[in-house]
Amino acid sequence: MSERRVLIVGAQYGDEGKGKIVDLLVQREKMEVVVRYNGGNNAGHTIVLDDGKYPLHLLPSGILHSEVHNVIGAGVVIDPGGLAGEISNLRQKGFSCENLHISARAHLVLPWHKKLDAHLGKKIGTTARGIGPCYEDRASRRGLRVGDLVDEKGRVDKDHFRARFQEVAQEKNLILTRCFELDPVDVAAELEAIFEVAETFCHQVTDVAALLQDLDARKKSILFEGAQGSLLDLDWGSYPYVTSSSVALSGCYLGSGGHLLPGRRIGIVKAYATRVGEGPFTGELGEYETIKSEKREQAMSEQDRQAALSGDDYQMGRWIRQAGQEYGTTTGRPRRTGWLDLVALRHAVRLSGLNGLALTKLDVLAGIPKLKLCTSYTLDGAPLNQFPPRIHQLARCRPVYEEWEGFDGWDEVSDFTQLPSQAQAFVRRIEELAGVPVQILSVGQHRDQSLFL
Ligand code: IMP
Repeated sequence: MSERRVLIVGAQYGDEGKGKIVDLLVQREKMEVVVRYNGGNNAGHTIVLDDGKYPLHLLPSGILHSEVHNVIGAGVVIDPGGLAGEISNLRQKGFSCENLHISARAHLVLPWHKKLDAHLGKKIGTTARGIGPCYEDRASRRGLRVGDLVDEKGRVDKDHFRARFQEVAQEKNLILTRCFELDPVDVAAELEAIFEVAETFCHQVTDVAALLQDLDARKKSILFEGAQGSLLDLDWGSYPYVTSSSVALSGCYLGSGGHLLPGRRIGIVKAYATRVGEGPFTGELGEYETIKSEKREQAMSEQDRQAALSGDDYQMGRWIRQAGQEYGTTTGRPRRTGWLDLVALRHAVRLSGLNGLALTKLDVLAGIPKLKLCTSYTLDGAPLNQFPPRIHQLARCRPVYEEWEGFDGWDEVSDFTQLPSQAQAFVRRIEELAGVPVQILSVGQHRDQSLFL
């Protein structure tokens, strides 16, 4: 188990600010390899540089550093058009992306996956990127992999791919048209489109497990970057309101290259909670149905703020959403907001054996006079300290809160002790309740607004 290997994993329902932390570690600790191991372009990792924001969906968050190997592992599902688009965008901005390696074992998100997800994913509130149907096909052995599209010499393997695509398309078109009365996939047009975009990245396809083993043998530092959050893990999250991949530590083995155990395992957690899509959300501020029906959220008025201060949860939820700019990177949806849930955080700590936390967006809470932390639950009136495995129980859990004095904002801080004392106490209490030290504290969106504790 090596300290050279670091796991970065979301410890909530996704959107914890992982992109910034990965980018920061690559810079500060000179990580030499970044591996994405799960999910697809349902993820949205944002990196903020002086010249603007770089939202990444499939590319690992070390991609802007040309000297860093960026690896897309076998556990990731790749939309070929999405990947090519991201690479082309970065190339236009002067980043070559030649530091990218793509696993031949990664599965491809194909047109029928997106159609089926758009049609069937509403109950879960999926991102409609085809993620679930693609992982389904992986498990049922109907999937097509990057290695079907690109041969061992890095060339687009048209004959082989066409035959496999046509075979699967036949069955999928029957399902689309007969079961769901949807339009069939235009096989010829889709094949041409895939062949065209594959030219963007075909020379970067390789056996990633072998590559990682070699880099590890050469004592390179490796950062494993998880997408989504632990509470969206297929097995350990709030099933069935989860994503379709293994998010936590187990996904890191499965989706990267086997035996490379990360010695440092850092959970990324926001100072409050958010969730997108359907599913229970203990400690939610405001009714989800109200938030869901809002198309475009109005800026808060003074009256709304006063209502928030007088105990209106919905307005407090809006306050946090607007202060934290909590709108989906991938979908633009307003995120549901709530107070930090320590029961859920402890669950995430246990799942991945986390030994450190990166606490993000503390600055968003500045100016709110009274803050809350959910320290435990009650279920039908009885105390509960564990994240329950049954979704109908989770839906009935009620938060037990601890109240904290709020704190004022800050312009610049370079040390933890320069933060307002109430902010320091709030952080210390989170550490205590989580049972894991906060190692990194993010106090603003730029790289340099980060403290190492
Ligand atoms: P899917 O991953 O698109 O299948 O969506 C399943 C659930 O995971 C939905 O509730 C999504 O909103 C949620 N989800 C997927 N990716 C992310 C993410 O990167 N951040 C937050 N939620 C996500």
